[in-house]
Amino acid sequence: MVGESESCGKSFGFACALLPRKGSVMNRLNVALPGREYEILIERGLLDAVGKRCRVVLMRATRIALVTDSTVGPLYAQRVVDSLEAARFQVKVFTIPAGESSKNPEMLAWLWEELMAFGLTRTDAVVALGGGVVGDLAGFAAATILRGIDYVQIPTTLLAQVDSSVGGKVAVDLQAGKNLAGAFWQPRMVVIDPDVLETLPDPVFADGMAEVIKYGCIWDAEFFDMLDQCGSRERVMAAIEQVIHICCAIKAEVVLQDEHDRGLRMILNFGHTLGHAYEKAYHYETYTHGQAVAAGMCRAAEIGVHMGVTPAEVPGKIQSIVKKFGLPDAIPCTQADYEEAVGLDKKGQGGDISVILLPELGKAEAVRLKKSELMEQIKAL
Ligand code: NAD
Ligand code: GLY
Repeated sequence: MVGESESCGKSFGFACALLPRKGSVMNRLNVALPGREYEILIERGLLDAVGKRCRVVLMRATRIALVTDSTVGPLYAQRVVDSLEAARFQVKVFTIPAGESSKNPEMLAWLWEELMAFGLTRTDAVVALGGGVVGDLAGFAAATILRGIDYVQIPTTLLAQVDSSVGGKVAVDLQAGKNLAGAFWQPRMVVIDPDVLETLPDPVFADGMAEVIKYGCIWDAEFFDMLDQCGSRERVMAAIEQVIHICCAIKAEVVLQDEHDRGLRMILNFGHTLGHAYEKAYHYETYTHGQAVAAGMCRAAEIGVHMGVTPAEVPGKIQSIVKKFGLPDAIPCTQADYEEAVGLDKKGQGGDISVILLPELGKAEAVRLKKSELMEQIKAL
């Protein structure tokens, strides 16, 4: 093995199989950050109870700015507005165009002005209804307006329900790269209604599955095997509350141990460095983020085997599961594209990079390598 490493990952002992459930079951998780504790609520149909739930955590709020996008708004905003108004909030909806291109400083500045024109005060709140784009943008607006006000996440994509709505990373993209202007600003509550996933297009659901599979790879081999047995969107949806609960529990545990991304939290980037190379090589057009992460996890597992860290059977297992969920197990990419993504391009940046490897399935380790060493590993495959 090369470089220093920090080993992490443990099972939560979820002994139960992912079983189809009848009716609605409330799952509740507590993210116990000192002074900024919050709950993640997971329940089918919860969208209609948002008002009651917000009343409990936003006791002093009068106005709520509901931020959504042009796809999610027409589907779900009215139900959330009705629920909030029934709980005596004054609500105004702010709709951004759907898609990553809305997560920019101009949209943030537009939102700041709109929030002020609505008359928001420091005791009022923002509610983000949408995928990771809406959550990141609205969360960053909440983090910065009036030096920071409360916000609630209502994530509507699988990726947002299992990842981006939890942990307080909020950001916008800059010309120089994704998520380069941002903050750590924890939500007051995360309200997850798995029913909204029914309207997700298959590729967007598959994107979220890449992150779900990632949690199995880095933390819980038993969960990985359960997902592998499910093997389809339909069967995952039959146990969706459990799936989301397990992912959020892992993310919450990681965030509790390393809120500011200085150590353990890096394991959430498993597959992401190489995934970034694939996204960038195709100008963020050909492959989605989830597809790139899926191929990146497969490649990272192969590198782990080559470095003597990862058991030989692991890459095959990851390749097999990603394919079951319609994700690619490899994406063609040139050495120059890899070099650019790891920061070793013609600008000549050297230095080290943390690579996340799997000493076993269900366990992750951040290994510090020279960028040139990582390139040698990539070339050797
Ligand atoms: P997204 O927000 O762009 O949503 C994907 C598409 O699905 C959009 O067109 C959206 O309108 C649509 N959509 C959302 N919910 C829907 C529903 N229920 N039914 C039908 N359509 C629906 O993308 P995403 O994948 O949710 O999030 C990606 C963003 O998340 C990226 O900007 C990424 O940087 C960010 N992210 C942040 C974190 C974090 O920790 N903050 C973590 C991971 C990713
Ligand atoms: N999605 C990576 C993180 O929250 O750290």
